[in-house]
Amino acid sequence: MTRLVGISGSLRRGSYNAALLRAAVTMTPEGVELHAATIRGVPLYDADVEAADGIPEAVSALKDLVAGADGLILFTPEYNNSIPGVFKNAIDWMSRPASDIKRVFGGKPVAVLGASAGGFGTVLSQNAWLPVLRTLGTNPWFGGRMLVSRAHGVFDQNGAITDDGVRQQLHQFVHGFAGFAARARAVPA
Ligand SMILES: Cc1cc2nc3c(=O)[nH]c(=O)nc-3n(C[C@H](O)[C@H](O)[C@H](O)COP(=O)(O)O)c2cc1C
Repeated sequence: MTRLVGISGSLRRGSYNAALLRAAVTMTPEGVELHAATIRGVPLYDADVEAADGIPEAVSALKDLVAGADGLILFTPEYNNSIPGVFKNAIDWMSRPASDIKRVFGGKPVAVLGASAGGFGTVLSQNAWLPVLRTLGTNPWFGGRMLVSRAHGVFDQNGAITDDGVRQQLHQFVHGFAGFAARARAVPA
């Protein structure tokens, strides 16, 4: 079994990125499981809190999920042409303590995709993740690209994808990344 974890970087109830993640969960090939994780419950990073109380439970749980997975998919919104603070904050917490980065992120296959209301479908946010992924020592996947633009016209009120092209693209993306993660597991870095 190849185990993947997807994290949506939005707290919004009607989030397009969370909807994309829910759709992706239903599209995995046989022998692949995609677990939908959330950043809900992750507090704002505060080094004083870390020093006094250690790693918050919600963060430890996310770290363990990712550490135990064969691959991680970031479903990223775009705010002001970059990564939303709430999502970056969650990953920053997950990189603590630094001595644990290798266990959680080291050599980890990671894919980034996203949906936004604008016309460029999170291209700048996706680019902004690259230095973060490099710093954490991940193994980013560049075999697929998924930029869902003008997302309000792509999902219905329940968050189901109404656009056949987007559904097909997501299917291809999930299958492509699942294959990459499975191969990476067969040949550990
Ligand atoms: C502070 C803020 C900044 C935003 N900046 C951008 C942007 O730079 N590009 C873009 O396409 N959409 C931008 N948007 C619109 C988001 O794409 C839209 O809110 C989208 O629904 C967020 O993803 P979600 O549905 O997963 O929450 C911005 C929204 C907010 C709240």
